[in-house]
Amino acid sequence: MSARPVVVVTRRLPEAVEQAAARDFDARLNRDDKPLGPDGLKEALRSADAVLCTVSDKLTADILSAEPRRARLLANFGVGFNHIDVEAAKARGLAVSNTPDVLTDATADLAMTLLLMVARRAGEGERHLRAGAWTGWRPTHMMGTQVSGKTLGLVGMGRIARAVAGRAHGGFGMRVIFHDPYPPSPEVARSLGAEPRERLEDVLRQADFVSLHCPATPETRHLMNRERLALMRPDAYLVNTARGDVVDEAALVEALQSRRIAGAGLDVFEREPEVSRGLLELENVVLLPHLGSATTETRVEMGMRALENLRLFFAGSPLRDRVA
Ligand code: DGY
Repeated sequence: MSARPVVVVTRRLPEAVEQAAARDFDARLNRDDKPLGPDGLKEALRSADAVLCTVSDKLTADILSAEPRRARLLANFGVGFNHIDVEAAKARGLAVSNTPDVLTDATADLAMTLLLMVARRAGEGERHLRAGAWTGWRPTHMMGTQVSGKTLGLVGMGRIARAVAGRAHGGFGMRVIFHDPYPPSPEVARSLGAEPRERLEDVLRQADFVSLHCPATPETRHLMNRERLALMRPDAYLVNTARGDVVDEAALVEALQSRRIAGAGLDVFEREPEVSRGLLELENVVLLPHLGSATTETRVEMGMRALENLRLFFAGSPLRDRVA
């Protein structure tokens, strides 16, 4: 019998991370990468000392009520944790950790990717070319929107938003405005070339591109509803690399169909992996399958950070990234 803590790893992880997990723990790896589902998650909570989970595991209050529970830590692979009922975890004395910092650059890069793709009609252009529809260069073909020098509005000004601000301002000469109920100091904002706005509505009215970077909480659910989408300019674009819940997807489809806004670049969706049919049918949207942190380097770092939290926990030390 192994005295090492038993850790259920809910999905496949990069090879180096799985090797490190197997070295340091009695790791129960998920070789076929099928989501465990509610029953599998309950079984993991009953049989393991910790669960290394991901955004694809819905850890609801019901699942966390599995008894008799052996697990004492949910080490989340990812910074966002809205798939975990943190209050229920807390109430049951279950610790929760996440992996901030290490995915900031990758996610900021992806926000810029979406922004550029939708503005320059890159997805549409690629579909056009692959379909054999391209008849050759002409001055009026697929004209998009200039990005350089435009105004970027950031909703939320945490780590990822700041990294986007740096790229947009430093790399593309964009004017950056933002709204955050807990804004950074004026010095930090100035160093990023970013101007605060008291009201979210002012960001929405003034920006050519609105990029969402707030956490998904009950307060931010459907933050971008019909009324707020209507405040955006008709030539403005919405970018979402945060969480699908922050946008009312049905209202967004309507806004895009009616050209109430010019377009959207989306990496996250309300009911992943389901995507609203209306979005799939539109040309003025770029849709990616939740790739924000999906670089090899970042995914390895996320895994190592989750393992670091596990090691600290079982050594009786404070977690580096405690959420609950
Ligand atoms: C994150 O880290 O929050 C990513 O979206 C994957 O969960």
